[in-house]
Amino acid sequence: MPRFLGFILALISFGLGIGFSLGLIYLFQMAQWPRVPIWVLAILSGIVSMLITWRVLPSWWRPVLLVLPLAALFSLSINSWWWLFAAILLLAFQWNAIFTRIPLYRSDAMVAQVLVAYMRRDQKKSLLDLGCGDGRLLWRMAQALPDCQFVGIESAPLLYLIARWRCRNQPNCRIEFGDFWSRSWAAFDVVFAFLSPEPMLPVWRKRLREGREGAVLVSLAFMVPGIEASELLPAHQFDMHLYRAEYHAVVGNLDTN
Ligand SMILES: C[S@@+](CC[C@H](N)C(=O)[O-])C[C@H]1O[C@@H](n2cnc3c(N)ncnc32)[C@H](O)[C@@H]1O
Repeated sequence: MPRFLGFILALISFGLGIGFSLGLIYLFQMAQWPRVPIWVLAILSGIVSMLITWRVLPSWWRPVLLVLPLAALFSLSINSWWWLFAAILLLAFQWNAIFTRIPLYRSDAMVAQVLVAYMRRDQKKSLLDLGCGDGRLLWRMAQALPDCQFVGIESAPLLYLIARWRCRNQPNCRIEFGDFWSRSWAAFDVVFAFLSPEPMLPVWRKRLREGREGAVLVSLAFMVPGIEASELLPAHQFDMHLYRAEYHAVVGNLDTN
């Protein structure tokens, strides 16, 4: 189902849930029964809107619809300045996710270990992390491989600052602010990506376009659609898919994202 349609359906069922509770209030008043606490009605609204769309919407909507009326009710009792504060904090962390649709989730220590082992094995000397988040992965790798060079590009301002601060004492690690699409990746032996399924094909095309001989792309969790990985590097929860440019012919002009 298209995302937009799902959202509209969720809004409609939310409205119906609220309508159901308002109807109950009206009935209770008419029958002169004791008042039902408003929070009970909010829970009922949630249950109703969840049940209405149970089979229609993806299952992750169920808990969202269930708690939405209660959360909306609760939000009324919170000082509005807190909402402003929360919105600013969220934007500072992840304003870019609105456009890139790539949120922050960090790779764990095992990913750093496996990547370090791979770079040692294949004698790779430099790695670029596309969207380095808070820089923890690069910091771990830069410590383990002091004779290699690590660069991270991050477009979320607060994450960039945190990453810079984290890597401040690591001379072989540099953090840059900005959009990784607008930079060249040509100088790096390894380009590492932990993004989302959506940009993987453009990422691979850019890598092919710019990569020199022996250029490698390592993607944690997400595969390049239609391209077979040269190798899998297992790392805890997810595999890393390793793509080598020399195994893929470049035919025609790939100069588009
Ligand atoms: C899933 S996180 C991965 C963080 C880190 N690489 C790791 O493995 O722990 C993806 C990061 O990419 C950043 N990002 C997404 N699109 C970007 C872009 N076009 N340029 C720079 N950073 C981007 C996001 O802000 C987010 O911090």
